[in-house]
Amino acid sequence: MYMRIADIKIMSGPNYWSIQRHKLIVMLLDLEELESLPTNAITGFYERLVALIPSLSSHLCTEGVAGGFLNRVKEGTWMGHVVEHIALEIQSLAGMDTCFGRTVETDKKGLYHIVFSYEEARAGKYAAKAAVRIAEFLIKGENYDLESDIKTLKQIAVEEHVGPSTYSIVKEAINRDIPILRLDGKSLMQLGYGAKQKRIQATIASTTSLIAVELAGDKEATKKILESADVPVPKGEIIYDEDELKDAIEYVGYPVAIKPVDGNHGKGATTDIKSFEEAVKAMNAAKQFSKRVICESSISGFDFRALVINKKFIAAAMRTPASVTGDGIHTIQQLIEIENSDPKRGQGHQNVLTFIKVDEATIDYLTKKGLTLETILPAGEECWLKPTANLSTGGTATDVTELVHPANISLFERIARVIDLDICGIDIIAESLSTPVKENGGAVIEVNAAPGFRMHLEPNKGTPRNVAAPVLDMLFPNAAESTIPIVAVSGTNGKTTTTRLIAHMAKKVGYKVGYTVTDGIYIKDEQVVKGDCSGPASAQFVLKDSAVEFAVLECARGGILRAGLGFPYCHAAVITNVAEDHLGLNGIDTIEKLARVKSVVAESVLPGGYAILNADDDLVYAMKDKVKSKVALFSMYENNIRIKRHCAQGGLAAICSHNYIVLMQGSKRIRIEKVGNIPITFGGKAEFNIANVLGATLAAYVSNFNLDDIRSGLQSFIPSAEVTPGRMNMFQFSQFTVMVQVIRSSSHSRSRIIFC
Ligand SMILES: Nc1ncnc2c1ncn2[C@@H]1O[C@H](COP(=O)(O)OP(=O)(O)O)[C@@H](O)[C@H]1O
Ligand SMILES: [Mg+2]
Repeated sequence: MYMRIADIKIMSGPNYWSIQRHKLIVMLLDLEELESLPTNAITGFYERLVALIPSLSSHLCTEGVAGGFLNRVKEGTWMGHVVEHIALEIQSLAGMDTCFGRTVETDKKGLYHIVFSYEEARAGKYAAKAAVRIAEFLIKGENYDLESDIKTLKQIAVEEHVGPSTYSIVKEAINRDIPILRLDGKSLMQLGYGAKQKRIQATIASTTSLIAVELAGDKEATKKILESADVPVPKGEIIYDEDELKDAIEYVGYPVAIKPVDGNHGKGATTDIKSFEEAVKAMNAAKQFSKRVICESSISGFDFRALVINKKFIAAAMRTPASVTGDGIHTIQQLIEIENSDPKRGQGHQNVLTFIKVDEATIDYLTKKGLTLETILPAGEECWLKPTANLSTGGTATDVTELVHPANISLFERIARVIDLDICGIDIIAESLSTPVKENGGAVIEVNAAPGFRMHLEPNKGTPRNVAAPVLDMLFPNAAESTIPIVAVSGTNGKTTTTRLIAHMAKKVGYKVGYTVTDGIYIKDEQVVKGDCSGPASAQFVLKDSAVEFAVLECARGGILRAGLGFPYCHAAVITNVAEDHLGLNGIDTIEKLARVKSVVAESVLPGGYAILNADDDLVYAMKDKVKSKVALFSMYENNIRIKRHCAQGGLAAICSHNYIVLMQGSKRIRIEKVGNIPITFGGKAEFNIANVLGATLAAYVSNFNLDDIRSGLQSFIPSAEVTPGRMNMFQFSQFTVMVQVIRSSSHSRSRIIFC
């Protein structure tokens, strides 16, 4: 080993390395002896790198032109820089969208932070280690099997990626600035935060009625309820054995279709059955999937899917069973392999199209047409390979949305109402949808909850439709209504008190509040988790709780450096102060760097929100130049020139003036409360708490709390072991009073007991 990986961190949310780029891997890499061995000093390194990963030629790097990075390698650059670019490139060779990278020196010679973007955290971490491995093999001049890394990364992507339908909704949510949280390793996603959240699992939403899903999942129940609503459905019956099959065929008449009553993806479905022998075989095939089997008339025509969202018709596609087209040269088997090599095809639902699998149904279907896998089809002759048109069995889709007859549109919308399904996929067999199905002999085959979106998003032919948009319109008619107010608090001292005070005032206003502090997570005043909860996971804990209408999140340096904020933005942020404290942790060895960590919180405030900064603290005050939001300042001193200048420009501020907490906006001044009436100031003696009151008051004011609620919140926030554990807790004894106060020294924090 030439290099040593000292640490790998995964960022999610605004972080120390970037405010905009929320998904970053941060690797601490020690180049050791390679620090004195730039790339141009390693014979043949450049040539071997280009030979192994030629696509690196597209990397611009600081030169800003294609080939820029490789030029740097030729001229001589450090191995950390090479590792950064390799990690990015192998992820994109595996189909992931990664483009941002930085290599940053630390104060220790040879030790670098390698920062690069990821799409899936697990893949990013793998790429970090693989990139170091690859660089070392290139240095040694040994062969390296890059393909196996790319294959592994692709596999990780398959395992980690949500499917195309879920992804389309997630992407649309991101485009609308609706926050998302992944709740499991599969496709359960939370859209929005707290009390405003909605959930999706693939294309079932938390608004989707379970009764409707159950109903749609039972083809017999669906058939019955549609029949009674005068919707054309194939005549059919449930059968359990050959006797009942015989009766059903007598009742329905050939050709019949036989399928499991609660199947999906075309599994166990056989159509166009014209003999009892075939029917028995089909019944047994269906029984592989369900005891209850449907035997119904087989409708001739094309296979259509209509998508209705929020009871509104959105799109329609014509589905064609998996097929190949002859070229007069290749056998059907070979044509299938050629078709499956299309990059649009993949396993299951991971890609827009699914691999065509040759199974018994395929062989039977070909045999029925007098064909085998060895048959060479004449050039241009299309050959269907499956009896059903599901995309899950390799089918393809043509968009026909604009061709649907208005009578069918209203029929489809009525069907969605009958089943009461808000995201509804209707399967229809008919000659066409351009004439009323009720008149052209067509029939509704089934109704699907969790319909696939692939055929609409990326049809093989026709117009792609952004069918995720109506889902978001339904879940969040007003995108702004997808989140709850989030106030983040950071700084060296006073974070916990400020957080608790803002939470207390929000409660006064009537919000159900969730907040995180260094001694726990509180939901509606109940401590649900004990311990230091000032990190990203705790923030997400609160934002996941559907009872929470207002979130106040303490954000300590540790969590920010370990994983970023854990939420993409906030509506207001209070930065209390920056002081020498725990310097040296995680390479943060100067107070300026510490300020940069804290500044992440201020810089994550949305443009319309407020960064609330302590104007008495130079480092905090300087953050005003980095934020994209509005700024509010607070100061213990009314003559603070920064306050004066800020208000002269119409800015918002809070000061302590003549022992009053005063809000100022431009020339307007509002007296909020006498310092002496605010218990946590201990009659004004606890000056640091006056500063905390100023920050909290501004946070309440910009969160549109009315002045009375702010005032009564300040008056009723009584410090105690319950309300402010370890912060100025007074214990009255007959002879003396004990005050317990957490104090912080540069190395650690501990409680001090003061007798008075
Ligand atoms: N009665 C029928 N007539 C003609 N084709 C049918 C019939 N029933 C099913 N099919 C074909 O089989 C496919 C799968 O049947 P479907 O009822 O949609 O079950 P699944 O839930 O497995 O999708 C349909 O898309 C259609 O191509
Ligand atoms: Mg179906």
